[in-house]
Amino acid sequence: MSVTSVKSSAVGPPVPQSVSAVKNIAISSENYKYLQQEIYRESGIVLDEDKHYLLESRLMPVARAAQMSSLDELCTRLRAKTSPGLARSVIEALTTNETLFFRDMAPFEALRLHMLPELLAKKPQKLAIWSAAASSGQEAYSIAMLIKEYGIGGCPVDILGTDLSEQILERAREAKYVQFEVNRGLPAAYLVKYFKREGLDWQLKADLRAMVKFKRFDLRQSMLGLGKFDIVFCRNVLIYFDVDTKVKILTQILSVLNPGGFLLLGGAETTLNLHDKFERIAVGSTVVYRKG
Ligand SMILES: C[S@@+](CC[C@H](N)C(=O)[O-])C[C@H]1O[C@@H](n2cnc3c(N)ncnc32)[C@H](O)[C@@H]1O
Repeated sequence: MSVTSVKSSAVGPPVPQSVSAVKNIAISSENYKYLQQEIYRESGIVLDEDKHYLLESRLMPVARAAQMSSLDELCTRLRAKTSPGLARSVIEALTTNETLFFRDMAPFEALRLHMLPELLAKKPQKLAIWSAAASSGQEAYSIAMLIKEYGIGGCPVDILGTDLSEQILERAREAKYVQFEVNRGLPAAYLVKYFKREGLDWQLKADLRAMVKFKRFDLRQSMLGLGKFDIVFCRNVLIYFDVDTKVKILTQILSVLNPGGFLLLGGAETTLNLHDKFERIAVGSTVVYRKG
């Protein structure tokens, strides 16, 4: 990160003496550090040193909405703690909610071809599945559609979707998606079967929506109150955390998994060098992790 000293200009607001000038994005080094610490404290997300552009694109809209014209001003207001909700808006803006239906496909093939047959062979009284960083719901609803298609013969299924962001969970509960979102990953036959048109959007039908409950949950909280699960999808979220946080989350997931239960991680995530209590099983082009 380059650090330059900029003198106050004769016109416009005073410029801090020490600013980081990366791609013309100005925020004092002290404020950058402050945001790194706040974001880590509130979400566990590690903001690297070179994310000035990300900060600018995500946080300037938050600043402008609150009538501020710079990230430094936003930090001053955050420090003063005089604007209720501002800190939450900052975290909401910085979480990456990228998701799609049947993301990467292979984990869902593993669910259909490996995990469901193995779990159902034990004749369980019910199946509990957790989408642990659910974002706008596509992952949890993909699981619901797959289960419907699979037809698991009267065995009740509970699907829980959780996320840190209350705002994104509102979207998940609403289950209304724009054309672009249903074009990503969702087979055309499922769109016709499980969605209905609502103006320009597509609304998931009520029976599918009823299969999934959503609630806010920070993965760093104690998971004990969530109950036990047979399958945990914790995909594309560990990448944002440091090693210590990843280890704690994996340890907790292990404790809420039933014996023989499965964990699925994102394509760039692994338990290797983090946790040795999961059995790694290659299924097709993916790996699933089983609690012994
Ligand atoms: C990239 S999305 C992944 C969505 C989905 N699992 C997938 O793979 O498509 C990451 C999600 O993790 C959530 N998240 C970030 N930090 C979290 C935390 N500490 N606890 C729970 N969820 C968190 C974000 O709000 C975001 O919706």
